[in-house]
Amino acid sequence: MAVRPVLRMGDPLLLRQAEPVREFDTPALHELVADMRDTMAALNGAGLAAPQIGVSLQVVIFGVSANPRYPDAEPVPETVLVNPQLAALDDAMDEAWEGCLSVPGMRGLVPRYTNLVYQGFDIHGQPIHRTVSGFHARVVQHEVDHLSGVLYPMRIRDLRKFGFTEVLFPGLDPAADD
Ligand code: NI
Repeated sequence: MAVRPVLRMGDPLLLRQAEPVREFDTPALHELVADMRDTMAALNGAGLAAPQIGVSLQVVIFGVSANPRYPDAEPVPETVLVNPQLAALDDAMDEAWEGCLSVPGMRGLVPRYTNLVYQGFDIHGQPIHRTVSGFHARVVQHEVDHLSGVLYPMRIRDLRKFGFTEVLFPGLDPAADD
């Protein structure tokens, strides 16, 4: 287990289409997820995708308990999601501020589908199938975007709503980068 360096926007590895995991419950997959957990925890993130630590595989982790950075956000269960697939339930979208460990120190206002079904597998290959909305749906869309090389600034509709966290939100915890 180790805290790994997080690649930052501009690194071509963040723009690649990640490969599906073909074998579950392997030592390599457990090690990858342990490193992702350590890295996310060390940086106080809400989620992390394997490509962010330079591994081009379809693995994301996310989870939010009581995070002072998201005081109004409902908790999101700690989840390891492998080979995910998303489907919006309807056309409803909403906009909210997002950050990313690969875009440190910044925030942008990003539209996301409000209501979503997602499926995939856990680390053992057991299927996961959830219907979610709101913040949970937003976190999943952000993380799964990383698997196809999409970073949240690419989804901002009005680039006037993109800037440095400490300028946009003076007084917010400066360590809050995701
Ligand atoms: Ni991100």
